[in-house]
Amino acid sequence: MAPLLSTQGLAYAYPGGGQAVFENIALTVQPGEFVAIVGQSGVGKSTLLRCVVGLTAATSGKAQLQVPDTAGGRPYAFVFQDTRLLPWRRVQANVAYGLQGLTLDSQAAQARVQDAMALAMVSELAERWPFQLSGGQAQRVGLARALAVHPQLLLMDEPFSAVDALTRQTLQDELLAIWQRTRPAVLFVTHDIEEAAYLADRVIVLSGRPARVVLDKTIAQARPREREGAALRDDVRAIEAAL
Ligand SMILES: Nc1ncnc2c1ncn2[C@@H]1O[C@H](COP(=O)(O)OP(=O)(O)OP(=O)(O)O)[C@@H](O)[C@H]1O
Ligand SMILES: [Mg+2]
Repeated sequence: MAPLLSTQGLAYAYPGGGQAVFENIALTVQPGEFVAIVGQSGVGKSTLLRCVVGLTAATSGKAQLQVPDTAGGRPYAFVFQDTRLLPWRRVQANVAYGLQGLTLDSQAAQARVQDAMALAMVSELAERWPFQLSGGQAQRVGLARALAVHPQLLLMDEPFSAVDALTRQTLQDELLAIWQRTRPAVLFVTHDIEEAAYLADRVIVLSGRPARVVLDKTIAQARPREREGAALRDDVRAIEAAL
């Protein structure tokens, strides 16, 4: 199968920033695959996520996102740590935001918004303003907004790091359920190794300055996975050793 996303020799240095943030990054993501990127704070995870889809232009190397013809969908969508909801739009209108510019009639757009809100379990929050949401609810709305555009690749940058541990586990399981139903490829950035090993088919470990891929580990455990299981613990240890 041709990869959905592939990069070769990808490198980035901030203009005037001296040493590169990362260099020589080669990675692939298959259609429908769930890939996690882990690395310590400041290693370059967010920068890499922007570079792989061209939101930030790489200094050198190539990134290719090869999406099949997707009328009514987008090649990719982002979910951010800080949600970035528009404060002057109700939840419903925030979820609809990404649909502007897609060729959908208003009925189809409305259906998209309803489906995405149902998937992310925020339907009953449709009329609220962002300031009326808890952190976990705001994250669900951010996810709904991304899902509404039917992305081939869902990019998530530490989406659950601002919520408490229990909410985080709930959101992780909800995300897995959504992923299994709708099957976008996911590129999920986190500094939480347990989270990466629990969620992903494959974990890519970034380390060093400039950062490089020091491990690309397939997580073989069958799903649903056990959070407390020995298999997860072994995977976590192997990733820790590489960091
Ligand atoms: N405008 C800038 N100019 C120079 N260096 C920058 C600039 N913005 C960020 N950096 C540096 O680039 C590096 C990578 O930043 P990035 O945000 O990608 O890291 P990260 O792995 O996502 O970190 P975190 O886990 O804290 O979110 C950091 O060391 C940061 O200090
Ligand atoms: Mg970051």
